[in-house]
Amino acid sequence: MTPTWSVRRLHVLDDAQIEGLADVLNDCVNGGASVGFMHPLTRERALAFWRRVAQGVAAGERALLVAEDAQGLCGTVQLVLDQPENQPHRADLSKMLVHRRTRRQGLGAALMRAAEATALDCGKTLLVLDAVTGGDAARLYERLGWVRVGAIPGYALMPQGGLCSTTVFYRELVG
Ligand SMILES: CC(C)(COP(=O)(O)OP(=O)(O)OC[C@H]1O[C@@H](n2cnc3c(N)ncnc32)[C@H](O)[C@@H]1OP(=O)(O)O)[C@@H](O)C(=O)NCCC(=O)NCCS
Repeated sequence: MTPTWSVRRLHVLDDAQIEGLADVLNDCVNGGASVGFMHPLTRERALAFWRRVAQGVAAGERALLVAEDAQGLCGTVQLVLDQPENQPHRADLSKMLVHRRTRRQGLGAALMRAAEATALDCGKTLLVLDAVTGGDAARLYERLGWVRVGAIPGYALMPQGGLCSTTVFYRELVG
């Protein structure tokens, strides 16, 4: 089946893209995803988050990938490129978000593959991320060959409250 979305890297974000990313983030938090925010996530907090990300992207500290379909932005993932001077080869993979309207069609996997290719383009050969233990995202990362390091119990709160365990993953990239 031909995908209904396309993935690209943004180097500069305009207001419409920031609004679209806030929509995706809100949808994920409303759907119960533990991605750094408590429910309810106000529009203002979501927009403030993406404005900070936009500054990091403009400064070259982050790489931002977005997916778009006919309705607008429907997915995103980031690489935190700015790392300590003794880890120039490493990046953190962060804020992998797919809108509920486009889930389970392979977009999450496509965003991960695009993020890995972007990381190599940026000279990164080691990626690290964490995800709720046993969740949809952790399953995706394992399926794509990421190596599970271990789980940290009680690491974060779910958006509606209640602690969850986080599993740390890494992936070595070969150019
Ligand atoms: C985790 C997340 C990014 C996955 O995105 P996604 O686009 O649904 O991912 P994929 O479509 O690549 O894979 C998801 C499932 O759909 C299945 N799938 C993929 N393409 C498919 C297709 N064409 N038809 C049917 N099923 C398909 C995959 O096999 C996978 O199955 P599984 O969950 O049983 O293992 C998404 O659920 C999400 O945004 N969650 C909320 C935010 C979040 O938790 N982010 C992670 C932070 S670490």
